[in-house]
Amino acid sequence: MVVGITEGLPEDYPVTTMPSAAETTADPPVATRTHDSRIELSGVTKRFTSPKGEAFTALNDVNLTIEPGQFCAIVGPTGCGKSTTLSLVSGLDKPTSGSVRVAGREVSGITPGTGFMFQLDALLPWKSVLDNVALGPVLAHTAKRRAQQRARDWLRRVGLAGFESHYPHQLSGGMRKRASLAAALINEPSLLLMDEPFGALDVQTKAIMSNELLGLWEQTRPTVLFITHDLEEAIALADVVVVMTARPGTVKDVYEIDLPRPRGAVQEIRFQPRFLELHHQIWQSLRDEVETAYASTREARP
Ligand SMILES: Nc1ncnc2c1ncn2[C@@H]1O[C@H](COP(=O)(O)OP(=O)(O)OP(=O)(O)O)[C@@H](O)[C@H]1O
Ligand SMILES: [Mg+2]
Repeated sequence: MVVGITEGLPEDYPVTTMPSAAETTADPPVATRTHDSRIELSGVTKRFTSPKGEAFTALNDVNLTIEPGQFCAIVGPTGCGKSTTLSLVSGLDKPTSGSVRVAGREVSGITPGTGFMFQLDALLPWKSVLDNVALGPVLAHTAKRRAQQRARDWLRRVGLAGFESHYPHQLSGGMRKRASLAAALINEPSLLLMDEPFGALDVQTKAIMSNELLGLWEQTRPTVLFITHDLEEAIALADVVVVMTARPGTVKDVYEIDLPRPRGAVQEIRFQPRFLELHHQIWQSLRDEVETAYASTREARP
């Protein structure tokens, strides 16, 4: 299966050619596998203490359910609590009040079966690409040889075959993202938490990575919580788009994205009338919050 755009890219750029599950050599993901990674936030409030020692509310009474296998994108103005929401679901932080449940269990500590992908690459600079990707299985007590075999397979899936011995600094930004994606997916997480994972990429590479993510997600169907500032990206990828209010963040609107799947190339779906309609509708909701957040930061200036 070949997806994505390749025009204008260097000849040696790893093109988005993803083998189907049947073509892969090790532990092919099972497309029909069902995970029970329902995410349920009810009445979630999170307060922090500011550097001046004042308490402030980052999240206020957030209620949200994401069904198992659903791809949920969260959009909202800067500082509205999107990353905070993600860290509560991951178990890296706890709510001040309310409940965060994954697969029916109250989150306490790092949620098992979770894969992460953040805006900054979490690759270890002193390890090769192969060892970076193999790290997850190694930490999960898989024998090193077997872990490396799986890592090779995942590097092939994300189009990085031939780059196994490279170190992160020897890769382009887009290639590092591919390696991070392989590292996030190698344990076949039932829950994938992504915080602006492609935010720092150029438009073309971002589109290619989005296509790759969709292709891989369609094979294994983890529940995804994907944070982005890019509304087009959110609509192109997700089943539901959640709009959060300006701080204190809460759920303002939830939009079901009824574009058919498989979606195909994300850069083409943007021209479909239904896409434009959804974009227009969601932007109306988001724009007010962005303006409110911007106005409050201007007021806060000395
Ligand atoms: N550990 C912390 N201690 C104190 N304040 C925090 C902490 N983490 C986040 N905040 C504050 O909580 C608010 C929400 O932060 P958060 O990072 O969740 O926003 P965001 O929606 O992800 O913003 P952005 O779009 O800019 O990434 C911000 O005002 C931030 O300063
Ligand atoms: Mg953030």
